[in-house]
Amino acid sequence: MQTPKILVFAGSIRIGSFNRQLAQAAAKTLALMEADVTLIDLADYPLPLVDENLRKDEGIPENALKLARLLEAHDALFIASPEYNASIPPLVKNTIDWVSLVDHDRQHRIRAFAGLTVALGAASDGRLGGIRCLYHLRAVMMNVGTQVVSEQVSIFGAASAFGEDGMPTEERQVAMLDRTCKALIEYCTPGRGR
Ligand SMILES: Cc1cc2nc3c(=O)[nH]c(=O)nc-3n(C[C@H](O)[C@H](O)[C@H](O)COP(=O)(O)O)c2cc1C
Repeated sequence: MQTPKILVFAGSIRIGSFNRQLAQAAAKTLALMEADVTLIDLADYPLPLVDENLRKDEGIPENALKLARLLEAHDALFIASPEYNASIPPLVKNTIDWVSLVDHDRQHRIRAFAGLTVALGAASDGRLGGIRCLYHLRAVMMNVGTQVVSEQVSIFGAASAFGEDGMPTEERQVAMLDRTCKALIEYCTPGRGR
């Protein structure tokens, strides 16, 4: 079997982000499961708000094209997203929306989302662990043509959830992360991205 190529990012660029910690823990777990992991930071791909006038006048921003090409080159994606007002934070939705516009633009011939397998995680210092965001994010990712695995990970009490090794300290949270990463590897199609 080919080694699956998995892209990982956090839906937060906040200094000290809990979701960046979760993305790092997921990247580590996936690498231990022998996936070929690329961990990126959305701070390196700043994008304006989706604006159809801007798209018409100036075209799709270069960073949206870069992200779309990166996604196309991978078999699977892990998103660690914060929950904002029980839903998807604007950084995550805006990123997905721009990439979906690349997918629909025939000029670029990039297949970012079709055939991509996705796993979702959320971290919040609250008691619900950001889980309400994941229902909405799941629906959006399915709408853009990806397959989303049923397993997902939610880290509550995130401010004290990660140990010095960067992994969750709670056994149940480690098990949830393991199950989600395992499912992502199992369900993705290695070679899609080549
Ligand atoms: C506009 C806004 C709305 C938020 N709404 C929620 C929420 O509904 N549920 C929740 O658990 N946390 C909520 N939070 C708190 C975030 O979970 C918290 O800022 C978290 O640290 C964000 O993730 P990060 O650490 O990866 O940046 C909200 C934060 C902001 C800025």
